Amino acid sequence: MNGAVKFQLLRCAAAIAALGVLINAASAADVVPYANLGRDVAANCANCHGTDGRSRAAVPSLSGQDAAMIVQRVKEFRDGRRAATVMQQLAKGYTDTQIEAAAAYFAAQAKQ
Ligand code: HEC
Repeated sequence: MNGAVKFQLLRCAAAIAALGVLINAASAADVVPYANLGRDVAANCANCHGTDGRSRAAVPSLSGQDAAMIVQRVKEFRDGRRAATVMQQLAKGYTDTQIEAAAAYFAAQAKQ
């Protein structure tokens, strides 16, 4: 391998390493809030809690519930302090910022 090729490979490796640091930094940090964050996170809950949190089945509705109450319960699920079938596992996938944004979104929805 000649010197120029080696140099190119090294530069490439350095760029990939730098990218890795950037990606890690982004995922380690909390999610940056944006206008539709709450709606986007709430879409992940729709399969069970219904569109905009209006449940049609046994899973509790979240629409029109107090935001602070939703945040508290999700955090309790996440920390294993609240009994659940699926919510303890699910809650672990969300940051405080995501939970708070989704809770604000649900609280702002009409109950029915
Ligand atoms: C796979 C189905 C499923 C998904 C997806 C889901 N949930 Fe749940 N959720 C449940 C079930 C079932 C319960 C009742 C507790 C239990 O058994 O886990 C519940 C309970 C809750 C409660 C307590 C409500 C109350 O009145 O006691 C909150 C708050 C909640 N979920 C928030 C969320 C949020 C926010 C999301 C999306 C990030 C979400 N859930 C996604 C199934 C789901």
